[in-house]
Order: sequence, then C-alpha cells, then structure tokens
Amino acid sequence: MPEVRLCSLDDLAPDTATRVDVADHKIAVVRIGDDVYAIDDTCSHGRYSLSEGEVWTDELEIECPKHGSTFSLLTGTPQSLPATRPVAVYPVRVDGADVYAELAVEPKP
Ligand code: FES
Repeated sequence: MPEVRLCSLDDLAPDTATRVDVADHKIAVVRIGDDVYAIDDTCSHGRYSLSEGEVWTDELEIECPKHGSTFSLLTGTPQSLPATRPVAVYPVRVDGADVYAELAVEPKP
C-alpha cells in the first residue's frame, strides 16, 4: 500500500483529533503522547466528522460528536451504539517530524 505524508507531528495537538485531507481521504489523525493514530474521519452511522469528537485517551477511542458512538483507534470497530459498522484505520509511521500513513489509494502527483 502506498505511504502518504499526513502532516507534521507538530501539527497535532496532544489528546485531540486533527482532520487531514489527503489523497481523496478525510482522515482523523490522533496524537496521544508519542503515539499517532489515523482513522477515517467520517462516522459509519452518518456524515459527521469524527475529528470534531472527543478523544478517549485511556480507552484509545474517538467519540462521534453526533450520536456518541465511540470507535477504536486501533481497529475502527464501534464500541457503542448506534453505529454498528467499522470505519477504516491506517497504519501510521512517525519519521522524525513527519507523520505518514499507508492508504488504500495512490496519492495524486
Ligand atoms: S452520526 Fe456518528 S454515531 Fe450517529
């Protein structure tokens, strides 16, 4: 899978989500301590942006701001109703000051 640069590590405020639009993907990038997670930004229950929701740092979950379903940052699986379908998560690599993810499509030149 192609690896795409998402952002700089400094762009990510701790314990929150930042929306990044790259290669036709809308991704919520979450920084918790030194760890970074990438999860599809659009909730599987409705067209709401997960990056506007709260990050649950102990549980490694993000909460949809509309109806409150939480999704695992590790697997994308919903942990509570009403969402029942997972959202995609992407492997992340931090290289120095830059954050990369493996996405399912080729980036545009
Ligand atoms: S739109 Fe996200 S839980 Fe309903």
